[in-house]
Amino acid sequence: MDKIVIEGGRPLEGVVKISGAKNAVLPILAATLLTRGRNILEGVPKVRDVVTMIQLLKSLGAEVESSSSEKIILDTSCAENPEAPYDLVSTMRASCLVLGPLLAKLGRARVSLPGGCAIGARPIDLHIKGLESMGAKVWLEQGYVHGVVDGLKGTQFYFDTVSVTGTANLMMAASLAAGKTILENAAKEPEVVFLADILNQSGAKIEGQGTDMITIEGVSSLKPIECRIFPDRIEAGTYMIAAAITQGDVLIENCIPHHVEPITLKLQEAQVDVEVEKSSIRVRGGRFLSAVNAKTHPYPGFPTDIQAQFMALMTLSRGQSIIMEKIFENRFMHVAELKRMGADISLDGHTAIIKGVQSLSGARLMATDLRASASLVLAALAAKGQSIISRVYHIDRGYVSMEKKLSALGARIKRVK
Ligand code: EPZ
Repeated sequence: MDKIVIEGGRPLEGVVKISGAKNAVLPILAATLLTRGRNILEGVPKVRDVVTMIQLLKSLGAEVESSSSEKIILDTSCAENPEAPYDLVSTMRASCLVLGPLLAKLGRARVSLPGGCAIGARPIDLHIKGLESMGAKVWLEQGYVHGVVDGLKGTQFYFDTVSVTGTANLMMAASLAAGKTILENAAKEPEVVFLADILNQSGAKIEGQGTDMITIEGVSSLKPIECRIFPDRIEAGTYMIAAAITQGDVLIENCIPHHVEPITLKLQEAQVDVEVEKSSIRVRGGRFLSAVNAKTHPYPGFPTDIQAQFMALMTLSRGQSIIMEKIFENRFMHVAELKRMGADISLDGHTAIIKGVQSLSGARLMATDLRASASLVLAALAAKGQSIISRVYHIDRGYVSMEKKLSALGARIKRVK
């Protein structure tokens, strides 16, 4: 298992280029099941979750032309296998995104129930209820979700909880259903809007994306997808915080400032100097960092995927910061590790109270989930002395070459076997 070794205490300086958005490309890859012909995706981030999704599509029968690092060409016309196997799904929850497309394409699906993960149970009850409301018969058997339907039908479905992949799954299924579907309390994340726009380019009839009510008029078929994946707002936010926590000066290139607005505003509230340009953001961290509160919320609120990274920053602020995690039931796995570096954090249910300290000290750390790992890397970059982070495969799920990008910014970081 690889480890990452970091000598902290150096300000990051220079330019970092943001890669394609993991959470945008995963639903688009699943959506290729809805089309017939050669799909071409550019700007694809080569992260582990993308490799897993491609393996999954291959196991369903898709023909994937191996191509250059950021381009994928695949044809799912002859994908006839309805089964998404446990060994693939168990490593990536987003595999559940093939459920809707398989029911739309084949009228049947057998998808292993995604295991829970460190941050919570991650149920897909809303995905299932939505597909049942479209006429599918869905049942659980031996850890698999089984679905059969003789033609999906349009429906009116209300999400009890805002669900990003739930919205994506039902939107994809509804694209080829008979009649009209209305999704209420739908997710407004940019990745959901992007999926709707790309499906529309392939002939779907979707309106209202980006609002909490999305309307889909089913069509009989969709043309192949051709698109360029937009930049990853969570990767961008992570590097913005890296600049702030190391009191550095970093230009984040190839990002969409509007997508990271909640993060920009929160950093500015903490007295971090953030300059927003058309497609880049410059972040300079000063010596004075105000303690600010944050509460995670579906887009356009403060993103839960940035909560752990922001908490690392607040451990070095002046004063007390209160961070509430309102989306997931257990997304504080980074707290114990940060405390081992000298952070002063106390937990009360879904609330963390952080009292700023003068400095953190390097330590041996263990990554538990994707964003908690990023939080530990940021803390280690700012800490005095050496940190060694194990189980870094979590980082590889969602960040392209993190240690290379950080080294290019002057960090003393290396990956060791
Ligand atoms: C997506 O997960 C992202 N993953 C997550 O990013 C992100 O943290 C999350 O949205 C919230 O923004 C992808 O897009 C691949 P949800 P998703 O369904 O869709 C509950 C990362 O770090 N819920 O919006 O799985 C659920 O338990 C990952 O890149 C149900 O109860 O999240 C959670 O409490 C981590 N029943 C809340 O809703 C359901 O059927 C939001 O979950 C579905 C969800």
